[in-house]
Amino acid sequence: MSVHTTIPPALNGRASRSTVADFVAKRAKGERLVVVTAYDAMFARLVDEAEVDAILVGDSVGNVVAGYDSTVPVTLDQMIYHAAAVKRGSSRALLLVDMPFLTYQVTIERALLNCGRIFQEAGAQAVKIEGGSPEIAATIEALVRVGMPVMAHLGYTPQSVNALSGARVQARLPEAAQDLIDTAKRLEDAGAFAILLELIPASVAARVTEAVSVPTIGIGAGPECSGQVLVLHDLLGLNDAFRPRFLKRYATLADDVRGAIRAFGTDVRSGTYPDAAHSF
Ligand code: KIV
Repeated sequence: MSVHTTIPPALNGRASRSTVADFVAKRAKGERLVVVTAYDAMFARLVDEAEVDAILVGDSVGNVVAGYDSTVPVTLDQMIYHAAAVKRGSSRALLLVDMPFLTYQVTIERALLNCGRIFQEAGAQAVKIEGGSPEIAATIEALVRVGMPVMAHLGYTPQSVNALSGARVQARLPEAAQDLIDTAKRLEDAGAFAILLELIPASVAARVTEAVSVPTIGIGAGPECSGQVLVLHDLLGLNDAFRPRFLKRYATLADDVRGAIRAFGTDVRSGTYPDAAHSF
């Protein structure tokens, strides 16, 4: 009788995937954390090969891929579909997945079941949820208690776009800044392993980062966060209509894509593609 054993990748000589503990340990060592979004297996592979610390399957998929004008319409099934694809395309970065609007705010029980689907069906290692109310803190506590790590998200929270009247810098006034710092501490106490800070003054992000011991990951939150996140299509310059002040583009792929497709069109129309070298 033969015995079949599945050897875990880590014992098999293959690199194993980073964990939440690895992510948190980097802040403790003073290393800055790098997080980039991905929504499909192809880009997930490239992002993973570029050695980011974590890939975020953001609900920005709604804007970037689905063409919605906000993240509000994104569904749990859509997030599971995209997260599972990113999981298949990557092998080393920590996999973080956004919980979409209304999947975690209604009751703790629904939050547990919905987040559970992201872990069970997509293979996430952590979820990200927006907001800092006492109810959200209680939800984080419940998720962490059953073994689902949570990254919190404060400052501008895109799922509240309709209440916040657009993507605006938050916590500019002293009272709002202090409130944000207190909220960040509450979410750390609730068990969040990291806090994403979006669109807040650099000085406020620096104070939050000083006040909590978990990593802060900034987007439009200045240089003093423990790490930074950007949306992949923005940093690649694929989304050339989007020009917020915080965004630095590291490529101009929109031009490359249009140029390549125009060149293909020119070749087809002139009959120069396919030539003999590209024919059987
Ligand atoms: O959905 C997303 O891409 C985000 C950004 C803030 C990185 O949450």
